[in-house]
Amino acid sequence: MEASLVPKSWNVEQILDDLDQHGFTIIDHAYSLEYVHQLVKECTSHLNEFRDAAIQNGVVSNIRSDHILWINENLAIAQQHIQALFQLSQSLNRAFYLGIKDVEAHFACYNAGEFYALHRDNPQGKNGRMISAVYYLHEQWQDDWGGELHLQDKNNIWHFIEPKPNRIAMFQSDLLHEVIEAKHQRLSITAWLRSDIGLL
Ligand code: OGA
Ligand code: MN
Repeated sequence: MEASLVPKSWNVEQILDDLDQHGFTIIDHAYSLEYVHQLVKECTSHLNEFRDAAIQNGVVSNIRSDHILWINENLAIAQQHIQALFQLSQSLNRAFYLGIKDVEAHFACYNAGEFYALHRDNPQGKNGRMISAVYYLHEQWQDDWGGELHLQDKNNIWHFIEPKPNRIAMFQSDLLHEVIEAKHQRLSITAWLRSDIGLL
């Protein structure tokens, strides 16, 4: 694994404080525009490989209608984002004893009309997912385009988080949340900081 650092634009103190107080945090202007540009290119050039997220092991669910592509070592630009999250997880482990050992992630594409109904990423705390981090990488987003992340924080307060480009929404994986139907194509990377591998 190559040495890498948490990007300078990420205020680690703030991230730790927000997660502690509210169970979620927002990182805006997460990356340089140069990096964003490369990432959008990598994502959009693979859109034809995305699959229906609703179908898992041949079973169709109606909870979500987006399309996903798991990120592997062939997606070199997205890997840098995973590395940055992995670096951040060292600080999270020191602060909260989360024991994060791994980051798994997929690209997600919500076309107009697609959504993800209320769910938790780690129901009953069973699957090793500690922290979810969603990075939004479409080039623009207008506030009447829907597609908000609707999230209940650890104090049971609900928030609508707009999927602004170059933003990361990071939250405890056990919190209840949903993706409101988007009116335009919505591109993201969902990543999970995990305390173990392959239990799911
Ligand atoms: C997920 C998810 C939220 C978002 O992929 O599990 O809840 O804002 N994503 O895309
Ligand atoms: Mn989720």
